[in-house]
Amino acid sequence: METLIIEGAPALQGRIRVSGSKNGSLPLIAASLLTDEQVIIEDVPGLIDIEIMCEIGFALGMQVSLQNNTLHLYSSSVNRFTTPSSLTNQLRASFLMLGPLLVRFGKARISLPGGCSIGSRPTDLHLKGLAAMGAEFELENGFVNARADRLKGSQIFLDYPSVGATENILMAATLAEGETVIENAAREPEIAGLCHFLSSMGAEISGIGSSSLKIRGVDSLRGTGYRVMPDHIEAGTYIIAAAIAGGEVIVENVNLEHLIPLTSKLNEMGILVKKLNPGEVTVEVPEVIKPVNVRTMPCPGFPSDLQPPLTSLMTQAHGLGTLRETVFENRFRHIESLIKMGADAFVDGTTISIRGKNNLVGTRVRAYDLRGAASLVLAALAAKGITEIQDINHLDRGYENLDLKLNNLGCSLYREENRAEKLARIS
Ligand code: EPZ
Repeated sequence: METLIIEGAPALQGRIRVSGSKNGSLPLIAASLLTDEQVIIEDVPGLIDIEIMCEIGFALGMQVSLQNNTLHLYSSSVNRFTTPSSLTNQLRASFLMLGPLLVRFGKARISLPGGCSIGSRPTDLHLKGLAAMGAEFELENGFVNARADRLKGSQIFLDYPSVGATENILMAATLAEGETVIENAAREPEIAGLCHFLSSMGAEISGIGSSSLKIRGVDSLRGTGYRVMPDHIEAGTYIIAAAIAGGEVIVENVNLEHLIPLTSKLNEMGILVKKLNPGEVTVEVPEVIKPVNVRTMPCPGFPSDLQPPLTSLMTQAHGLGTLRETVFENRFRHIESLIKMGADAFVDGTTISIRGKNNLVGTRVRAYDLRGAASLVLAALAAKGITEIQDINHLDRGYENLDLKLNNLGCSLYREENRAEKLARIS
């Protein structure tokens, strides 16, 4: 694994473009299994998670090519319904192949995605929803063997507005017999994105953007061309970077409607996110940043994925702020690294308390997951001296060209192969 070396940043200066959405792209790759015609998806971010999802599609027989952020997918030759566990174990989103494979073959064999460092990540809601449509499941040493002669529309209530469960059920419902209603559906922006993508293929979906989705099954879906929405979590991360480091930054390709929870909380801190031109924002930071209290919730609440980045900013506020994480049970490991850098922070159950303003000092820290890695990069921008972030590859799962983008703003970031690995290699 690599180490990212960051020197405490001067005030940032310049423009930074947000890439297409990771979590908006992954379900579209799965949904491409629902048609034998060509699917073209633009502004797909060049990320490890996208590559793994494409490799899973390829292993099923999908023709896949990703050039200059444009994906060409062709499923006419898909002839396998078992996903390779060597790949699915690396990517939780691989479970989104279940619904489309069930529709296509009437059966599927897919490994249960493991938990990860932020939580156990169960899939019971996915299975419960598909079972309501007539699917049967057998769990066999880490695999789900699924079968369904013909999925039938059903009225489904999700006990929790799970993003992945909503996506799996939604995709299956487009070609099921009759009408499916998903109540308490997730409302994250990528859900509406998937609905629009499926509608462009001929799916009949109403209630898009609401927590009650109605899908009328059709006989087949056609190919489509589609542009992925901007990544609102990446956008939020760069807006926070601008707030932490100060200076004159213009963040491009931003849909502010997807960032209302963040901009509202930043306003409480005295930080203003201002619209410049369409899709462009700047950040105005006061001399004294006020503390804030936040609770993460499913959309339209404050997104869990921006919890770690926000904790880094909270170290720069004057006073005590709290952040209660209600979505994932173990999304706190970045706090130990922030404390090592000088943050006055502690975790009590599911609540993080941070009393700023902390003068952070660069040191060696470790990243344990994607958004935690991002929080350490942000903290390093505020820190005095050099910060070394080990296992930085987590970052490459969700932020396209982050080093380059931040260096273009005047930061100084570079990567070093892990010294031990280098010694092992050359000795
Ligand atoms: C998606 O994960 C995102 N990943 C996550 O982003 C994001 O944090 C999460 O939604 C919440 O917004 C992708 O879209 C690929 P959930 P997902 O199902 O679908 C419980 C990132 O950093 N749950 O809404 O797995 C679960 O335990 C990643 O980009 C069940 O209990 O999220 C969790 O506590 C991290 N049973 C909560 O719901 C289920 O069957 C949220 O999970 C499914 C979920």
